Amino acid sequence: VKKIEGKSLWQAPSNIALIKYWGKRENQIPANPSLSFTLDTCATTTVIEYRRLEKKGTDFDFELFFEGRPMESFRPKIETFFKRIEVYLPFLKEYHFNIETSNSFPHSSGIASSASGMAALALCLMDLERELNPEMEPDFFIKKASFLARLGSGSACRSVEGDLVLWGGTRDFPKSTDLYAIKYPFKVNEVFKNFQDTILLVHKGQKQVSSTVGHELMHGHPFAAQRFLQARNNLTLIKPILASGDLSAFVQLVESEALTLHAMMMTGNPYFMLMKPNTLEIIDKIWEFRRATKTQVCFTLDAGANVHVLYPEEGKDRVLQFIKNELVAYCENGQYICDQIGVGARKL
Ligand code: PMV
Repeated sequence: VKKIEGKSLWQAPSNIALIKYWGKRENQIPANPSLSFTLDTCATTTVIEYRRLEKKGTDFDFELFFEGRPMESFRPKIETFFKRIEVYLPFLKEYHFNIETSNSFPHSSGIASSASGMAALALCLMDLERELNPEMEPDFFIKKASFLARLGSGSACRSVEGDLVLWGGTRDFPKSTDLYAIKYPFKVNEVFKNFQDTILLVHKGQKQVSSTVGHELMHGHPFAAQRFLQARNNLTLIKPILASGDLSAFVQLVESEALTLHAMMMTGNPYFMLMKPNTLEIIDKIWEFRRATKTQVCFTLDAGANVHVLYPEEGKDRVLQFIKNELVAYCENGQYICDQIGVGARKL
């Protein structure tokens, strides 16, 4: 029996990688495994209304609204996504979709919405898939949602579940796969519970390099092979760090991953510099604060100028005070977002 019409509503969070995904093969297969914290506050909410068409269309039939307004500029991205996933969701051309989406974080804040956005959309579509296949196991639902989200934007596959998420096949982690992300399967020390991420909005403009161009840069990059190996090694190294809660080792590894990501961009052809002077000022201040106060706080970066400040919940008051006193001055319009590690996407 084909479902005639219905509605699905999901909220999916953003995520921040500790071990970075940068470089991919065909079909969004990552060149190396990656590990991320799922965020809590930074999220995309998507509602899909679907109606079965009299006759299967020759094209995808959908309307797009972003924060209440028609958003045609997203159409090509969604078209590409639908094309890629149609083999896995063969009903797509049999329905008309009304897709409405909104973000909890400020528009063009430099916070990528592709991870949370693609995860939310994949989950909404999986709701319809489940309507059509009611015997589907919950575990399969989650895996397939992550699998589909990956085809929208690689890192989106890590936004379905929380709180520490692993994506990419690697020897030490037998359950891990390139096809979808899974919850980190090993012991994680209590200090990482409610870990904080304060996102400093250094530069809110359009990114200088899209992640598509960025991943492309790793093809023929002189240091690519070494980098992919390093990410693998870092995943092996972080396992005992996460288990024991060795924060000083954690800080070293996470910061090194962030700087390596940017080093790859700086040493590519063409080369890019995505950090801004204020990014460096902030990094310097964090190092100074850590040295002076012995507080275990570190930074990580996405493919942009914003800085994610990571620290245990226990140090929250102290670190927030430091951020307000010393770092906010380097943020565009003094803007920052207080977030923390979260549990994953939620059906609303
Ligand atoms: O998912 P994409 O293709 O936008 O790539 C994201 C890459 C980084 O955010 C820079 C790193 C990561 O692992 O999330």
